[in-house]
Formats: sequence, C-alpha cells, structure tokens
Amino acid sequence: MKNIVLFASGSGSNVENIVQYFHENSEVNISAVLTNKAQAKVLDRCNRLNINGLYFNRNSFYKTDCVLNILKTFKPDLIVLAGFLWKVPENLIANFPNKIVNIHPALLPKYGGKGMYGDNVHKAVRANNETETGITIHYVNENYDEGAIIRQVKTSVSEDDTPETIAHKVHQMEYEYFPKVIAQILEVE
Ligand code: GAR
Repeated sequence: MKNIVLFASGSGSNVENIVQYFHENSEVNISAVLTNKAQAKVLDRCNRLNINGLYFNRNSFYKTDCVLNILKTFKPDLIVLAGFLWKVPENLIANFPNKIVNIHPALLPKYGGKGMYGDNVHKAVRANNETETGITIHYVNENYDEGAIIRQVKTSVSEDDTPETIAHKVHQMEYEYFPKVIAQILEVE
C-alpha cells in the first residue's frame, strides 16, 4: 500500500480529482489532506469524500515540528502539493527527500516564484501575450518552484484567450496529467 498526503490552500479541485482517480485503486491510500486555511473549501470536500482534513497555522508550520510529526505518523510514500501556496520549510524537505511534489500552473521556470500562483500566473501569461502556457509537475526543494522537473505539458494561448479561459484550460490539463504522474512516481496501476 502506498500512502499519499495532500496539501492544499484553497478550493481543492485537484485534491478531489486525485482522490477520485485513486478511489478504486487498492494499492493507494490517501492518508490525509493538510491545509493552511481554516476556511478552505478543500475541507468541505474532505468531509464529503470522507477523508481526514487537517488544518495547521503559520506558527505550527514554520516554528514547530507539529506538521512534521503528523506527517511521520502517516508514513507517506509521496507528499503532494495540490494548490498549496506556502513555501515548504526545511524540516519537511530534509525529512522527505524526493518525496514532495508540486504542480505549478505554468511552464517553469517562467511565471514561478513568490506571488506567482493560481490566477496571478494566468493574468501574467495573458499580459505578456504568451503564445503557450501549460503545467509543470516538479519535486520540491527549499526554493519556490525550483526543484527538478518531472513532467511539463504545453498548451497554446490565442489572442482570444482571457485569464479565465487560460485558467480553465490549465485546470483541465492538471486533472488529466497530475494523477497519472503521481501513479507513475509511485509505480502503481
Ligand atoms: C492549481 O491550478 C495549481 O496549479 C495552483 O493552484 C491551483 C489550485 O486549484 N498552484 C499554484 O499556483 C502553486 N504555485 P485547486 O485548488 O482548484 O486544485
């Protein structure tokens, strides 16, 4: 059995998609979803999906080993950041080398770094008249959006696209590819 712990900060549509993808897979267990937002919609999804949903605050994340100790109890084979917007502290990176992956809604190294998340990314892609964007799935290291790239998938951006249509396209790509890449990393399926 492979254990996955997910981290999310907002809606959690990727979380739900990953949970659904592995629902019938007896080799994979979604141990918990951890969030830094007490009001995040992802916690409603956890309730509905009958999955552990746990909240932590900034102090416990950055100044204590609370989250580390919680993670250790779940013995994760993979920690998946699915729309998680805080930088991961070193105590977690050091304890889970090559076991933390993130999805970024653009073609890194473009449109990465602090402040570049969610719709901010799509607005910047539009403002710069990019002709392509996409998704990047990568390992997490101590710098935002800089770990080794596992998979990138591109899509075109046309003049008619708005940040909203770009966001929609990118989300659809995330739903298609993220669970498959997770399955490949875990060597399940
Ligand atoms: C996703 O598009 C994900 O790529 C992005 O947040 C969104 C979360 O959507 N992540 C980042 O921007 C990380 N820097 P969701 O909550 O509906 O899954």
